[in-house]
Amino acid sequence: MEVVIAAPDVLARLAAEAIEQLLRGRPDTVLGLATGSSPLAVYDELVRRHLEDGLSFAEASAYNLDEYVGLPADHPQRYRNVIEHDFTGRVDFAPGAVHGPDGLAEDLPAACVAYEAEMAAAGGVDLQIMGIGTDGHIAFNEPGSSLASRTRIKTLTDQTRADNARFFDGDVKQVPQHCLTQGLGTVMEARHIVLVATGRAKADAVHQLVEGPVSAMWPATILQHHPHVSVLIDNAAASRLQLADYFRSTYAAKPDWQGL
Ligand code: F6R
Repeated sequence: MEVVIAAPDVLARLAAEAIEQLLRGRPDTVLGLATGSSPLAVYDELVRRHLEDGLSFAEASAYNLDEYVGLPADHPQRYRNVIEHDFTGRVDFAPGAVHGPDGLAEDLPAACVAYEAEMAAAGGVDLQIMGIGTDGHIAFNEPGSSLASRTRIKTLTDQTRADNARFFDGDVKQVPQHCLTQGLGTVMEARHIVLVATGRAKADAVHQLVEGPVSAMWPATILQHHPHVSVLIDNAAASRLQLADYFRSTYAAKPDWQGL
């Protein structure tokens, strides 16, 4: 696990650079995408590279981490719409190249199985962008999630619903209770995981992720078992790390040729 502590714009450029390197080497890269605030600066940087440097996503495909259950197809907070608005609709993904769990399926368990099969048939995710919840969730794997879980329906915690109420006019009652989410076992199959977290509200979760014992109580801690994770955080999100000075000096001494 590599931990980089830097200003948010530097973090966004690092993540975008890792994605650009992948795409330039293999245009049919499979990306894993997250919604929410954390990846927005990364997406903006990728859009800039698309518009100014010709970075193309035309042969790439993308898989979302999660989706609310039951939001109408045209709801602005349905994650398929959010990701199109925030990122994929601003670059040149081919029609049908961006996928997400189907939160409107009549048979939700079958939709979860189908989503796993679709990802596997695509060869799995090369690089997964993700955020972390204040309660330590990744994707929507809330505390208590099986560390080996697969894509399934989950109930959001009150804390996550309160955190996400800002996207629903501040009204927590509008935030769906249920979601479909890739499991922790699913996420762990991505070949490279780039987690972005900024702000003091994430400091406890980041401390547990990096320095806590692996536990279903802090689901993100499963990433300690992954061979290639980049944790990109600002000073505020790093404020509870015991090893912060070590991570800062390690990054300062990192050879230029070494990417994430
Ligand atoms: C969203 C997702 C969630 C968010 C997390 C942090 O697709 O999977 O795990 O990454 O809730 O959200 P933000 O970035 O809005 O703080």
